[in-house]
Amino acid sequence: MKLTVIGGGSTYTPELVDGLARAHSALPVSELVLQDPDAERLDLVGGLAARMLSRAGHPATVTTTADLDKAVADATVVLLQLRVGGQAARHLDETIPLECGCVGQETTGAGGLAKALRTVPVVLDIAARVADLAPNAWIVDFTNPVGIVTCALLDAGHRAVGLCNVAIGVQRRAAALLDVPPDRISLGHAGLNHLTWVRSVLLDGQEVLPRLLDEHPDELAKASGLPASFVRRLGAVPSYYLRYFYQHDQVVEELRGAETRAEQVAALERDLLDLYADPTLDTKPARLEERGGAFYSEAAVQLVASLLTGRGDAQVVNVRNHGTLPFLDDRAVIEVPSRITSAGAVPLPVPAFEPLFAGLVAHVSAYEELALDAALRGGVDRVATALLAHPLVGQADIADRLARDLVAANRAHLPWA
Ligand code: G6P
Ligand code: MN
Repeated sequence: MKLTVIGGGSTYTPELVDGLARAHSALPVSELVLQDPDAERLDLVGGLAARMLSRAGHPATVTTTADLDKAVADATVVLLQLRVGGQAARHLDETIPLECGCVGQETTGAGGLAKALRTVPVVLDIAARVADLAPNAWIVDFTNPVGIVTCALLDAGHRAVGLCNVAIGVQRRAAALLDVPPDRISLGHAGLNHLTWVRSVLLDGQEVLPRLLDEHPDELAKASGLPASFVRRLGAVPSYYLRYFYQHDQVVEELRGAETRAEQVAALERDLLDLYADPTLDTKPARLEERGGAFYSEAAVQLVASLLTGRGDAQVVNVRNHGTLPFLDDRAVIEVPSRITSAGAVPLPVPAFEPLFAGLVAHVSAYEELALDAALRGGVDRVATALLAHPLVGQADIADRLARDLVAANRAHLPWA
């Protein structure tokens, strides 16, 4: 089986390779192809990947290439983990909105829109090559903003599923608190990508969330960045991206003048690439944990294994709504537990959303629809309209100014600008 990683030169790749190395029986990869336009990174990351697999006694070959067609031809699975414009573009996403008093973040708010504008056309071009050269391949999208990108892929008719590591992170944390293996825990995790709440934690089918909130409020709240008392009041564990909503003004104050996450990641990536260059290194270095991708390899391996074997288990993925959240369009992409078979992911029923959660989800889903329209058809006015629909922007003058500034800053990456 050929597994292709687009953006394979990412410093995250050893995380994925670590998962593949451990999952050889569940996922018999024979050929791992890392595709990336950056030859230097690809060389360093590819070298480490090959050493890691060889140390694990894994038989897969590792191929590195900048050639997209060669990379995707006859692939069984194509993982998308690219970042258009790299950390430099991310830095702009994280700073330009701050000038207007809006949160600067790479997936949430105005920054997330800029990232969508840059990314959707590139991903659709790649997917078109996959459709031509590997028509039966599954596309697993990690590329942010995952909800918008997955919707673009599904609208264009691709066999795609969107994936994020937020849910698996909560599952692992709950399992650790309960001192049980993670596979005994299933989550009532629902919403949109990076806009989710865990409203139920089942241990062997029994509800344990109220007990967890009583006994471990600080540990559960910690990863959300929100106060434990607030999380208990919600009665649900919000993803850490909800802090950008629930504490918006405070976050803006914290971000102003601080080093951006893009700057931190750029420095960390330099260190990681230095480590990867060491020909004696043949395991995932501990410093990779400083990036946000914890457990992403596990999530990817589980999903790909279920898509290929059709084992029909439940996993949290990004799928079409199809009535699951009745207040959203059927076409909207949501992040919920879904049954994974060889035909794809089918969302499982979700208990009715409280108005507190439904209102925000509906609001952001409308924004995502307009963001995708702006990414596909271009135009500063469409960008401004999407910003007007975003609950973290929403004001006419700010939407217009941010639309102009974001488009100007991203011109090199926008085919229409
Ligand atoms: C989490 C999110 C990803 C995001 C990453 C950022 O894993 O789920 O969608 O890309 O954090 O991590 P970074 O190390 O780039 O800040
Ligand atoms: Mn994510």
